[in-house]
Amino acid sequence: MTGARVAVYPGSFDPITRGHEDLISRALTFADRVVVAVAVNTAKQPLFTLAERVALIQQAVSDPKVDVRSFEGLLADFARAAGAAVIVRGLRAVSDFEYEFQMALMNRNLAPGIETVFLVPAFDLTYLSSSLVREVARFGGNVSALVHPAVRQALEQKFGR
Ligand code: PNS
Repeated sequence: MTGARVAVYPGSFDPITRGHEDLISRALTFADRVVVAVAVNTAKQPLFTLAERVALIQQAVSDPKVDVRSFEGLLADFARAAGAAVIVRGLRAVSDFEYEFQMALMNRNLAPGIETVFLVPAFDLTYLSSSLVREVARFGGNVSALVHPAVRQALEQKFGR
């Protein structure tokens, strides 16, 4: 689509949660296309491989306006190459703010034409994070309301249940 407004939504997605899915839907209210950008070199040691994280997003989000891609190196370079107008990040709590603010300013420094847009998730998903989902699943807790069924199944397999 010529002149399409592209939003890049980057993250580790280890794994994708209902909170991420909610943010993708919200981004589609102002973007023509959302590119979910899965970081290869996440600073954290991921539970799921890159291929698994990408495949789970593809299963959880089947909107034709959403592309799932992986990226290595700087997000600013990836977003520029993807023709993005905006980078989307979620803000759940004050504790997210400092890191997100620094990252937004650095990304603006690296790619001045691209704005970072912060979205607030649905109220009942604000407590949700991939790390909490991993922890709950690791100890056999019920995550069915927190993730897509394919993700729940993948977590059960990972933890041998
Ligand atoms: O889901 P996360 O782990 O909070 O996502 C963080 C991520 C992947 C968006 C961030 O670490 C990132 O952009 N990494 C790519 C490398 C980069 O551009 N770093 C400088 C950002 S200012």
